[in-house]
Amino acid sequence: MPNEGSYEVALKRSNEIHADLPIHPEKYTMLTGDRPTGRLHLGHYFGTLVDRVRLQNMGVHTNIIIADYQVITDRDTTANIADNVRNMVVDYLACGIDPAKTMIFTHSAVPALNQLMLPFLSLVTEAELQRNPTVKAEMEASGHALTGLLLTYPVHQACDILFCKGNIVPVGRDQLPHIEVTAKIARRFNERFAPVFPEVAGLLTSTPLLPGLDGRKMSKSYGNSIAISMTAEETAKLIKKSKTDSERMITFDPENRPGVSALLTTAGICLGRDPKEIADEIGMDGAGALKRTVTEAVNGYFEPIRARREELLKDMDYIHDVLAEGNARANEIANQTLAEVREAMGMVY
Ligand code: TRP
Repeated sequence: MPNEGSYEVALKRSNEIHADLPIHPEKYTMLTGDRPTGRLHLGHYFGTLVDRVRLQNMGVHTNIIIADYQVITDRDTTANIADNVRNMVVDYLACGIDPAKTMIFTHSAVPALNQLMLPFLSLVTEAELQRNPTVKAEMEASGHALTGLLLTYPVHQACDILFCKGNIVPVGRDQLPHIEVTAKIARRFNERFAPVFPEVAGLLTSTPLLPGLDGRKMSKSYGNSIAISMTAEETAKLIKKSKTDSERMITFDPENRPGVSALLTTAGICLGRDPKEIADEIGMDGAGALKRTVTEAVNGYFEPIRARREELLKDMDYIHDVLAEGNARANEIANQTLAEVREAMGMVY
């Protein structure tokens, strides 16, 4: 569990891996994923999708889980889940994920992955689960009771990562406790039974968190996020509606002017420019001009991605096949790993 200095250790390890990746990409297996609770947005895109594509094209073994069982950690319904899963595949492919290089699959289609949960749960204590700060924060944010699945989902993520012997997981700083759980489970399994699992490290992302349009954390429930799948018109409307302030002069000041600054950050990331410079250019032209700039920047950047999306949507059989193939491959790998796990535990009869 996180202790003093653990961040520094994780950062050092992450930097070493970042340096080694271009030299020995084949040594690394990345596993990451998303919960299919809605559409992917700009936070996902700049925060992780760009990196996934980069690792994929570098020659790292890349794997993406659509974490469908994680949807019910803190909600009572699986409404729209099939539609969300299919759209997630469409988003991935439109953004440059290549299914010939990256395995895309879902929890629910891979029984052997889920079976790892049983031996893995025996390797953690209740106290360790209870003190995970991320789980606590997520429970509070959801306003939902702490379900058994939410409490143990870091262990389920260990199953996601370890079934394919993943050794790097791209994460933000707040997700490091989860990686520590996975690393600990791998180590304990190897010590108790036989060395089956690799050493796992978090690959810390250098991209700062993209705020929502109002400056708060980007979240679907706040209505402050631009989905990759939005049309140019929907994007314009959302930006137009976003809250700025009464000061005409545009300045970059995230602390005191969260709305204006979030808009500048969004334009900056799409244009590959410093938000302060954009603020200087707009100056006394005010919020209207700022919103026009942001709208053009976002729609300009996502125009080719959205066009690819439209093309992909015309052939849903292909999308279905991509997922079916990913699931089939994930099953092969999971069955193999589970066989090793049973062998290590002497459960071969
Ligand atoms: N929890 C992640 C999210 O909500 C998705 C996820 C599931 C994941 N399993 C994982 C991420 C394993 C990294 C590793 O976005």
